[in-house]
Amino acid sequence: MLQPDSGPARSADSLFQPHERPQGRGTSASEDPRAPLESGSGAGKGDTAAADGAAMPETEIIVGDERKLRLRPIRTDDAQSLVEMGLRSTPEDLRLRFFSPVHPAMGHLTSLLTDFDREVHIAVAAYDPAAVGEEAGILGVVRLVLSVDAPEGDFAIMVRSDQAGHGLGHRLMAEMLGWARHRGLTRVTGEILSENRRMLRLAKAFGAVIQPQSDDFHTVKVSIDLTPQS
Ligand SMILES: CC(C)(COP(=O)(O)OP(=O)(O)OC[C@H]1O[C@@H](n2cnc3c(N)ncnc32)[C@H](O)[C@@H]1OP(=O)(O)O)[C@@H](O)C(=O)NCCC(=O)NCCS
Repeated sequence: MLQPDSGPARSADSLFQPHERPQGRGTSASEDPRAPLESGSGAGKGDTAAADGAAMPETEIIVGDERKLRLRPIRTDDAQSLVEMGLRSTPEDLRLRFFSPVHPAMGHLTSLLTDFDREVHIAVAAYDPAAVGEEAGILGVVRLVLSVDAPEGDFAIMVRSDQAGHGLGHRLMAEMLGWARHRGLTRVTGEILSENRRMLRLAKAFGAVIQPQSDDFHTVKVSIDLTPQS
């Protein structure tokens, strides 16, 4: 979606937070019980993923005041759509998401956000199929990157700033945790800037435990235990 601004910003690679860092294809063993899920269909163009391998059907979600949105996998050709999502978001929300100032433009980061190993990285976009004008386009994205050596995953989430506060973030978190449970994951974690109170509240609403990072006081790790409670 974005390019790092000049100045103190981290490199594009480090802006692509650890939970989204691209993993080499083939790093996920084919016998991994967490089977491929991800693929892509157009933003509102179709009901079945096609472009990137395994298919994932679009699904409908209802947020806020009975608004019907659809979820579809992020596609490799979504870079421009993510730039547009960035242009409709505030610099502060972009900084909270990428941990550094970024400028919405096509580039390395948009490639990283759209061209990734779909065996281990699930990314889904929400859109309004009935929307035109400013309400159209990608309204939010949630990602889950599976660990290759533990039944765990790391998430990242962003809701377009002009769509925030209507329940989409909560819904996307619930969806993402649903994938994780379905795949037998026992834990989902996320790295969040310490001052990101809204995201911390949202994570806590799903039972997250907040853990300081010993090597970085600017961020905390949120950890959501998915083991069945006895
Ligand atoms: C953090 C972020 C994802 C939240 O998304 P959002 O769509 O604005 O959040 P929601 O509207 O779903 O939630 C808003 C509130 O309603 C609550 N809520 C919403 N739907 C709910 C439901 N069905 N049941 C219970 N609570 C609900 C949320 O817990 C939250 O509580 P709060 O008011 O105390 O904060 C969004 O602001 C964002 O993208 N921020 C910038 C990027 C970022 O910080 N990403 C996280 C780093 S990975």
